[in-house]
Amino acid sequence: MNGTDEQGLATAKRWLSSLPSVGVIAQLGQSLDGRIATPTGHSHYINGPSARAVLHLLRAHVDAVLVGVGTALADQPQLTTRHVEGPDPVRVVLDPKSRINIDNPLFNDDGVGVIHCHASAHAPTSRLAHVDYWAVPYHDGAVDLATLVAMLAERGLGRVLVEGGRTTVSTFIQAQLIDRLYLMIAPLLIGSGPVGVALPAIDHLDQAIRRTMRTTQVDDELLVEFSFRE
Ligand SMILES: NC(=O)c1ccc[n+]([C@@H]2O[C@H](COP(=O)([O-])OP(=O)(O)OC[C@H]3O[C@@H](n4cnc5c(N)ncnc54)[C@H](OP(=O)(O)O)[C@@H]3O)[C@@H](O)[C@H]2O)c1
Repeated sequence: MNGTDEQGLATAKRWLSSLPSVGVIAQLGQSLDGRIATPTGHSHYINGPSARAVLHLLRAHVDAVLVGVGTALADQPQLTTRHVEGPDPVRVVLDPKSRINIDNPLFNDDGVGVIHCHASAHAPTSRLAHVDYWAVPYHDGAVDLATLVAMLAERGLGRVLVEGGRTTVSTFIQAQLIDRLYLMIAPLLIGSGPVGVALPAIDHLDQAIRRTMRTTQVDDELLVEFSFRE
C-alpha cells in the first residue's frame, strides 16, 4: 500500500507469523489517552493509513473477523483485506436481537462467507441466501462467547479476529477468550469520550490483568501487542 510505513508493517507481519492456528485476537485503534471517539461519537479518523494497513494485515492472518452489531451499524464496514495482500476472512456479526439490515456492506455477496449470530428468540425475518444464520446460546442478555468460538472452530474457523467495538472486545476479554490484543495508539489526546476497553471495576491492582507486551512504531503511531497467554 502506498504511503505506509513498510518497516513497521514488516514487524507486524513477523509478530503475526507466530499466531497459533486456533485462537482469538482482538484489535482497537485509540488515542494516547485510550479513547476511541469523542463524547458525541466522532471517531473518523483517530488512526492514519498505516494503522489501517495493520488492521487489514490482522484480517489477512485470521479465518474469521467478528464485529458487534454496534460497529456494523455505525461504521458499515466491509471487513476485507483490500489494502494489503492476503485472503479475506469470513465475516461474522454478533447481533443477538437481529438489528442489522440486509443491505449492510458486511453482507456483500463476494463469495467469502458471512455468518449472522442471533439469539434464538430473535431470529431474523429477512434472510439472504449466501449468509449463514446461527442461533447462538444467549442468557441474561449475554451471548455464550466460549461456545461461539467453539462453533467457529468446528466450522474450520480456528483463528478469529475480534475487531470491535468496545463492548464486544471488552466482553471477549472478560470471558478470557483473547490471546493477543493489538492496540494502534495515535498521537492525540481526546480528553473525554469512550475508552476502548471497559471491564468490571476492581479494588486492587493485584486484580488487574498484567501481562507482557511488545511495541513498534508504525509511522507516527505506536503498535502494541499485548499477550494474555504467557
Ligand atoms: N477504534 C476502533 O478500533 C473501533 C473498532 C470497531 C468499532 N469502533 C467503534 O465502536 C463503536 C461501537 O462499539 P459498541 O461498543 O457500541 O458496539 P459493538 O461492540 O460493535 O456492538 C455491541 C453490541 O453487539 C452485541 N454484543 C456484543 N457482544 C455481546 C455479548 N457478549 N453478548 C451479547 N451481545 C453482544 C450487543 O447487541 P444488542 O445491543 O443488539 O444486544 C451489543 O450491544 C462505534 O462507534 C465504532 O465506530 C471502534
